[in-house]
Amino acid sequence: MSDTSDNHHNTTRAEAASPSKASEATVIPDGRDVGADRFYGRRKGNRLSDHKQGLMETLLPAISIDLSQTKPKSLDPSGLFPQQPQTIWLEIGFGKGEHLAWQAKANPNAGLIGCEPYMNGVAGLLTQLDEDKTQNVRVYSDDARHILNALPDASLDKVFLIHPDPWPKVRHAKRRFLSQGNLDHFSRVLKDGGEFRCGTDHPIYREWVAIQMSVRDDFVWTAERPSDWTNRAPDWPETRYERKSLEGPATYFHYIKQSR
Ligand SMILES: C[S@@+](CC[C@H](N)C(=O)[O-])C[C@H]1O[C@@H](n2cnc3c(N)ncnc32)[C@H](O)[C@@H]1O
Repeated sequence: MSDTSDNHHNTTRAEAASPSKASEATVIPDGRDVGADRFYGRRKGNRLSDHKQGLMETLLPAISIDLSQTKPKSLDPSGLFPQQPQTIWLEIGFGKGEHLAWQAKANPNAGLIGCEPYMNGVAGLLTQLDEDKTQNVRVYSDDARHILNALPDASLDKVFLIHPDPWPKVRHAKRRFLSQGNLDHFSRVLKDGGEFRCGTDHPIYREWVAIQMSVRDDFVWTAERPSDWTNRAPDWPETRYERKSLEGPATYFHYIKQSR
């Protein structure tokens, strides 16, 4: 990664959003969420088993987050949980929920919010939560940007973006979740000292993350040596997507939010 970070050391925020500067970079004119109101992924897959369908009808309503009456920045995340959590974490695009369920089980004092519009993924998470009898997860089964808009300033301690869809083609770059606009959201909702984690196995997305993060003065990359980004931390469980390793070994980014 050092070659990547050196190369991008002097990248400006405007350049990070410019296709001419970053190879395979972006077509976003100003780095903001162009098309932010659209979700480009799948919402439904194969028919669910009866067990999973049952959980969608019983467990999901009990732990689902309803934003229909929530004004921007007014969601009280602590109030979503039966017991006041000591810390609140958000996972964006949890897939089938391996990482989210693991974190919830390992950290019973944390309250975890998971966002995933893919219903078969949600059903996968529910199966795990049901097996583990987990109480500290709340689910928003739609676009994570709705939750980001609903959260007040400095309300989260961690944000996880684990193997986001890479959208490797330049013409699709505006669909990548990691954008300057969404990083502005992360910056607003994270507390100072809060953590942002992002993992990817895709070389284009890896470079994208490095470039997008290099222009931020509100996030500090914690890596000191290559093993810090090539090795999965003990508290970072493997996901189904990562196990497939379609594009090669993953890179693990850890950033700390700091005040500007
Ligand atoms: C490549 S999959 C990775 C899933 C999981 N994190 C893993 O590692 O196995 C990316 C996931 O992000 C979800 N996703 C994409 N855009 C999203 C959005 N705007 N809000 C929430 N989830 C999103 C997709 O539905 C998909 O399940």
